[in-house]
Amino acid sequence: MSIGQIAGDQTYSRKCQALLEQTLGAHKALVTTSCTHALEMSALLLDIQAGDEVIVPSFAFVSTANAFALRDARIVFADVRPDTLNLDETRLEAIITPKTKAVVLIHYAGVGCEMDLIGDIARRHGVKIIEDNAHGLFGKYRDRWLGTFGEFGVQSFHETKNISCGEGGALLINNPAYIERAEIIREKGTNRSMFFRGQVDKYTWVDVGSSYVMSDVLAAFLFAQLEVWPSIQARRRQIWERYAFELSDWSRTNGVRLPIVPPHCEQAYHMFYLLLPTLATRQALIAHLAANGILAVFHYLPLHLSKFGLRYGGRAGDLAVTEDISDRLLRLPFFCALTHEEQTRVIEAVWKFKP
Ligand SMILES: Cc1ncc(COP(=O)(O)O)c(C=O)c1O
Repeated sequence: MSIGQIAGDQTYSRKCQALLEQTLGAHKALVTTSCTHALEMSALLLDIQAGDEVIVPSFAFVSTANAFALRDARIVFADVRPDTLNLDETRLEAIITPKTKAVVLIHYAGVGCEMDLIGDIARRHGVKIIEDNAHGLFGKYRDRWLGTFGEFGVQSFHETKNISCGEGGALLINNPAYIERAEIIREKGTNRSMFFRGQVDKYTWVDVGSSYVMSDVLAAFLFAQLEVWPSIQARRRQIWERYAFELSDWSRTNGVRLPIVPPHCEQAYHMFYLLLPTLATRQALIAHLAANGILAVFHYLPLHLSKFGLRYGGRAGDLAVTEDISDRLLRLPFFCALTHEEQTRVIEAVWKFKP
């Protein structure tokens, strides 16, 4: 990398984008400063405005909803399925109204949502789909890559993700009609990308936008992993499958549920979670593992019951599955550098715990 070319849209950003486009078959990939920012770009591209309704699972990351709240949309929280913990497609149609502009879904733990039915419902109601694919890069639903079903797919390269540059993301654009405006929004509302391609002789302010371009320093770091993504995924698969195999008897005898991956989904091996019988047993296992020097953590708190989420009218009891699983879910240590011995220690410590 020449030291003069460390801003955005240089050699390595282009390499990352080309790899994502060629591998996934997305019309356009734009690397961004974060997944949160790719979500914000989606909201701007869909012209989400005050009075619009956007459906978001309550069992979600804050940004999944916040990017649309920023545009003054009314957030309508949806419940999730008890098996995959993904948006419950059987209850989606009931919460669509004439004001619904978009549905944002998460392929939780990198396991695909039921895209056939969700796609049908969205098409019939003229509602756009945004796939928050922060967990699901390189996962598939019915042999098609996650992130390529919606108008947009958004990726995260935060340090907690399978492939990471510390902080970073990408916007996958599956409808070419949005490409030109996406480039403008990402470049502070200017047509600078067209200028760099020689399509205009100077660049100027043409639309709203912000600074969503990833530095090429981070893109270089990212590309080194994207180039070898199959080996990263293969290592994560090994870790995931070992947990599933070695904890299977323990989970059965102790009433603990392991992740469920439907046969038509190829998961992205992002996470290995346990669903304990109760909140008390979940907390006890976290404490037991901590006493053994092992960090295991819970996950999303229901957004409809969060301080900000309450303003959309949510009440305890509204979304039964979300409220239940949020209390009982625990994530085991899961990262590429986890050694065989470290994983053995985790598995042995879990086996010593009786809920
Ligand atoms: C589902 C989901 N969406 C969005 C994000 C935000 O990603 P970023 O930190 O890249 O903005 C996260 C982060 O953990 C996430 O889990």
